[in-house]
Amino acid sequence: MQRTLFICKPDCVQRRLVGEVIRRFESKGLRLVALKLMTVSRALAEKHYAEHAGKPFFEGLIQFITATPVVVGVLEGNEAISVLRGLMGPTNGAAAPPGTIRGDFGLSRQNNLIHGSDSAESAAREIALWFTPTELLDYQLADEHYVSGGE
Ligand code: GTP
Ligand code: MG
Repeated sequence: MQRTLFICKPDCVQRRLVGEVIRRFESKGLRLVALKLMTVSRALAEKHYAEHAGKPFFEGLIQFITATPVVVGVLEGNEAISVLRGLMGPTNGAAAPPGTIRGDFGLSRQNNLIHGSDSAESAAREIALWFTPTELLDYQLADEHYVSGGE
């Protein structure tokens, strides 16, 4: 079992696509461990995207992610990190294949609807950055044996 962090970015919330995006996570069999609607502070945005500091798009990215609310959450499941990245599709919506979230709903490189952790290290760092331990809920869903049992 892995945990991963996702963010429905401001464009996703503004375009009323949060339900559609989370529906895809649930349909795939991922389990919500945490979820909240929030406005992102500049300090948090800069920490989250620290790997991109200094890049030409960094300031625009920080402006974008802090402008209006996001929905942020944690998902758990078998191979959750790569499964989420697959559901998202590649960064640029215009190049992302149909069937992916970015491919189905986006045309932009920046306004690409969704963030997902890109490695186990990123997931651990990002979950600790966005959530306190008590916000991560420990519970089971009734169908888990069917969704991920037997491998
Ligand atoms: P995240 O899940 O958000 O981290 O996306 P990613 O891993 O597919 O892309 P990456 O980490 O390389 O970039 C982080 C975010 O910065 C992207 O999701 C975009 O919102 C934005 N971004 C990346 N590259 C560009 C770019 O060339 N131009 C602009 N304007 N934004 C970019
Ligand atoms: Mg990234």
